[in-house]
Amino acid sequence: MKIAVLGTGMVGQNLAQVLAAKGHEVMIGTRDVGQALQYKKPNGFGMPGFGVWVEDKPHIHVGTYAQSISFGDLIINATNGNASIEALRMGKADLAGNKVLIDLGNKLQPLPGSMPKSLADDSHSLGEEIQSTFANLRVVKTLNTMNTYVMSDPSTVAGDSTVFVCGNDAQAKATVTSLLGEFGWKDIIDLGDIKGSRGVEMILPLWLRLLGSLGGAKPFNFKVVR
Ligand SMILES: NC(=O)c1ccc[n+]([C@@H]2O[C@H](COP(=O)([O-])OP(=O)(O)OC[C@H]3O[C@@H](n4cnc5c(N)ncnc54)[C@H](OP(=O)(O)O)[C@@H]3O)[C@@H](O)[C@H]2O)c1
Repeated sequence: MKIAVLGTGMVGQNLAQVLAAKGHEVMIGTRDVGQALQYKKPNGFGMPGFGVWVEDKPHIHVGTYAQSISFGDLIINATNGNASIEALRMGKADLAGNKVLIDLGNKLQPLPGSMPKSLADDSHSLGEEIQSTFANLRVVKTLNTMNTYVMSDPSTVAGDSTVFVCGNDAQAKATVTSLLGEFGWKDIIDLGDIKGSRGVEMILPLWLRLLGSLGGAKPFNFKVVR
């Protein structure tokens, strides 16, 4: 499948690499290709800047948000949650027909010297905001409740942990569920329509606390036992 991964951060890099290794044709989307290729400094987690990371990956295309959205049969939003609407506007997502868009973004307020603050609450969500702003797209919220290495390989943590999906279109959820299966996900819980995004985005305050309590070195995930 042709997949557009919007975002040059650690999530965009990881998912693009894993999806390409699984045989998908991938384009990473960014605001300005020339500028993104100049990102050489490692990020806060010691990962190489995008311009260094992409050097030995000629099989991964790099394009603007608009080029990527036009390229992909499926789009993954891995942009900063506070800028996702702006990124999709720049990418002319309103002209993308009824493509499926996976939204894994979270809106976080960075706080100097401490964990970021989640901006999620029970009155709105990023997933709904994307769906209502780009009514043509079929938005599926998933994967935002874990770190990116767990997203692409659930065996990173022990046992069958849980991933949630929600969205208004059953066929879109089936497409996304199949892709999650390629990553190895087995315990996939459908939370219903896109309003389910509120729940999975509001889990972030707990997730961030756990990251602090568990020290950040060991990946973890939620498991719904029933
Ligand atoms: N890190 C994780 O493990 C993790 C786990 C769960 C969910 N998430 C969510 O995944 C998303 C990506 O996270 P990340 O840590 O990989 O990267 P990030 O630093 O949150 O986002 C980087 C991307 O956002 C774009 N961006 C930033 N400001 C923008 C603006 N004003 N307009 C348009 N685009 C803008 C950047 O564009 P340029 O390429 O042009 O610079 C870049 O592509 C976030 O929503 C995050 O909450 C992350």
